[in-house]
Amino acid sequence: MKVAEIKVIKARRELLNKAKLRRNDFFNDHLILVKDAEIKTDYDFLNVIQAEQYIKKLSTDNNITQIPFNFVDGKLEKNRENLLTTLIDNENVLWKTAVEFREIERELLHFTELFFWNQYRIAVSGLTYRFYPTTDEGMHFDTFKKGRPGLFKPGTRAFKVFFNVDKEDRIWRVGPTLQEFCLNMKDDLPDELPTDVNSFCYVVDKLGLLDGVNVQEVAIPPGGMMIANGTMAAHQVVYGNRMVCLEAAIKAMDGVPTVPTEQDSYRSIVRKLGLRTTDAFADLEEFHALDGSYERAKKRLENSGAA
Ligand SMILES: [Fe+2]
Repeated sequence: MKVAEIKVIKARRELLNKAKLRRNDFFNDHLILVKDAEIKTDYDFLNVIQAEQYIKKLSTDNNITQIPFNFVDGKLEKNRENLLTTLIDNENVLWKTAVEFREIERELLHFTELFFWNQYRIAVSGLTYRFYPTTDEGMHFDTFKKGRPGLFKPGTRAFKVFFNVDKEDRIWRVGPTLQEFCLNMKDDLPDELPTDVNSFCYVVDKLGLLDGVNVQEVAIPPGGMMIANGTMAAHQVVYGNRMVCLEAAIKAMDGVPTVPTEQDSYRSIVRKLGLRTTDAFADLEEFHALDGSYERAKKRLENSGAA
């Protein structure tokens, strides 16, 4: 089973010069590693930040890139909508953190706009700032909300950029694309598959069908970024600390052919391979109790620690 291709590009500038070509890589489910994202940010400062478990979900949903102070009645007052104001007491550190986070947001959004220039636009987007260590999470296709069907909106496709702001490499393993996986695992898959791709990825995860597939290890260097669609190519983080992730849904502009959703791509794979699907998976109850890749990886780690 072939692993998904990883296109390695030296710098963002180089990628943008060939954006048209690279967009095809993206739509063909290849991963794109940009060794230098060319984003000027204060790495020394960012590497001092260590998020506690409870703020794991630092995201733009918490308005953390909003200006942390408002001018009210002639005075600067903390903008409580920005979660950082409740987490950081020192006002200088608060300013500095918000500004660095905001700058990264601006750069990644700008990069995404340039990458899809004149062809696709960002329909929705959000960033998460994950300033905590990630250890082996197990090989998986991304799946959300316990495999619930119908999550992918017509005409949009997920675009994700993982920007390593840590001083150490972020180590990934990359497995097969969804298509390659289905082609090679035809005989091991259930006789009937879920009609929905999110449910399919969930079932694959719960049945451990990605355990033992061929993988390629790849390092995202400090200041580098990886572009990947985690539903369409299997992957796992083996080690990493401090990363910012931009998640966007892109949509075709007027006059440009509509982008296939992950669901559309899955449907065409299933059709091409003559696989059978059924709606019976709408209720995934029987799978919820099973361990997924994340739990299995955790147990492996515990066992190796005990040995
Ligand atoms: Fe993932």
